Order: sequence, then structure tokens, then C-alpha cells
Amino acid sequence: MNSQKLMAVARAMVAEDKGLLAMDESTSTCNKRFAGLGIPQTEEARRTYRELILTTPGLGECINGAILYDETIRQQKKDGTPFVKVITDAGIIPGIKVDTGAEDMAGHPKEKITEGLDGLRGRLAEYFQLGARFTKWRAVITVGDGIPSRGCIEANAQALARYAALCQEAGLVPIVEPEVLMEGEHTLERCCAVTEEVLRTVFDQLYTQRVTLEGMILKPNMTLPGLTCPKQDSVDEVADATVRCLLRAVPAAVPGIAFLSGGQSGELASARLNAMNVRFKSRLPWALTFSFSRAIQQPALEIWQGEDGRVLAAQRALYHRARCNRAACRGEYHTAMEMRRE
Ligand code: G3H
Repeated sequence: MNSQKLMAVARAMVAEDKGLLAMDESTSTCNKRFAGLGIPQTEEARRTYRELILTTPGLGECINGAILYDETIRQQKKDGTPFVKVITDAGIIPGIKVDTGAEDMAGHPKEKITEGLDGLRGRLAEYFQLGARFTKWRAVITVGDGIPSRGCIEANAQALARYAALCQEAGLVPIVEPEVLMEGEHTLERCCAVTEEVLRTVFDQLYTQRVTLEGMILKPNMTLPGLTCPKQDSVDEVADATVRCLLRAVPAAVPGIAFLSGGQSGELASARLNAMNVRFKSRLPWALTFSFSRAIQQPALEIWQGEDGRVLAAQRALYHRARCNRAACRGEYHTAMEMRRE
């Protein structure tokens, strides 16, 4: 492992107030989103959609890295140009999701454990050859009556740390993603308490597994009230609570924190990220940026609907959300941007 190279890639992933584009939906997740809009669930439709995303003019102005899926990293544009070349030509670093999904955890009803460690060393070597320079692994933590359990938090944290150590050995920067889900009635305060416990456990395991913190990126949830919680806190309250939680639990050596969107609307995700940067940017040890999937892609997907004639309009919508999020990284996003699309 060359630590200097890893650290340089990690810094480049969060540099210049740009963020990451998550387009690593598994085949089944992508198909589910297509089915909801009546788009055919075929390999060719998925390839066409990913080509639409990756050829969006100006994407590299806002995005430092794109997270691909196993199917996507092997695909090409219609003209035969490999996606990895399209990405790197746009000044974007290719990354890859390497977990194999979250499964029911034995002995822990309603909780999940993420799988994919078996054979990971070999898969990482192949992904590096294919051009990936960073990776992603997502753990899922559910909040409810009596959960999350210590068993679930510890098992997921250890898997994240073992994954991260293997990635750094292979010369790949790991994105460590412990996601506390939004589903539920829990309050913002409960989400903060759970997120803090999860992050402290994850960093404890990362230390135990000898992961170089300067050569990784954290991808957490924003701390939010549950979707069905009667009290929905303001944008500023969410921003304050999220930053307070991160300051308690995330070491300063980590170069960047790139949030998942987790089902928030595009506008709300931008507004909350913006509020964090407006209020705290100059005082934070790490860059605060985005690694959104739905909050960047959803409007574009809804416009595209599988029609060739709608590609340009869909790309404009994708670029718009990417631009809003870059503005949010600078603390310069404003809802008026939603009216004035360029
Ligand atoms: O792992 C989850 C994705 O990379 C982020 O997706 O922004 O839709 O939550 P999301």
C-alpha cells in the first residue's frame, strides 16, 4: 500500500467544494426504480441510463468521483468507449461499490448485516485493474423499539473496518458508509444518539483494524427525525445537530465527510448541507460534501422515462442538482437557484 497515493486520492475526492455521485444501485434496486416509472428492466436500459448520467455536460464541474456498480464498471457507451474512460476524461475518479448487500442478521430480528468480505481481496485487485481508485461499503442500521442492538452495531462496524483495511491494502480509498435509516417515528435526538454510538464504534474498529484515517472518506447519514416523527425539525436544527454529532465522533484526520441522501428530497438535502457549511465550514477539520444517489438522480430519471428524446432534458436536471449541491458545499445554495435553472 502506498499511503501517500491513498491520501492524495482521498483528498481529491472531496476537493474544491465538489462531491461524489452515487450511481451504484444494484441491478435489483435500479430495476425497482425503473419499474416505478414504467422503464424496461433490461441490461440495455440500465446501460443507456448510466450513459445518460456519465455524458451529462459539465458534470466534472461539480463531481469529483462517481461510484459505479459491478455491471456498470464493465460497460461502454453506445459508441464503444468504456465508461471508465468517459469518467476519467471528464476529470472524475471512478469508484465501485463492493459490498454484496445487507441481509437479515441471525439472532437479531429486524436488523441487517452487510455481506461481501469473502473473496473481497481478489475482487478488489480486479476493480483496481479496471480503473477504480476508491470503493464503497454500506452498513444499514434500523432505529426502532429496542434496536439497534449492540450486536448489530458491532458486527457491521467490524465488517466496515475489515473492508476498509482490505481496500487500503489494494491501493483503493474506502468510503465507509454506516447508514442510520430515516424510516421510523424516532426523534432527531434519538437519531443523534444512535448515529453517535454507531460512529464511535466504527472509528474504534477502524483503529483496531489499522485503517489509515487520512486515506478514507466517511459517508454518514445526516441526523434527522424519523420520517413519521410528528416533530420535523428545521433545516438549521438538523444542520446544528448533525455537525455536533460528527464533531464528537469523527477524528480530524479524516479528510472528508460525504453525506448520503437517504430518501430526502433533492431540495431538502441541498438546503441541509448548505446550512452546515454556512454555519460551520470555517471551523471544521474535514470537508463536508455530498455522495447522493436519489437526491441527485431522481428528477433526471423521472424526466427520462426511458425515452431517447428526453435525454437532454434529463441531463439538464441532473446537472442542475449537481450544481445546487456544489453551491451547498460552498454555503452558497439558495432556494432561488431552484427557479433559475441553467
Ligand atoms: O448507499 C447509498 C447510496 O450510495 C446513496 O444513496 O443518496 O439515495 O441515500 P442515497
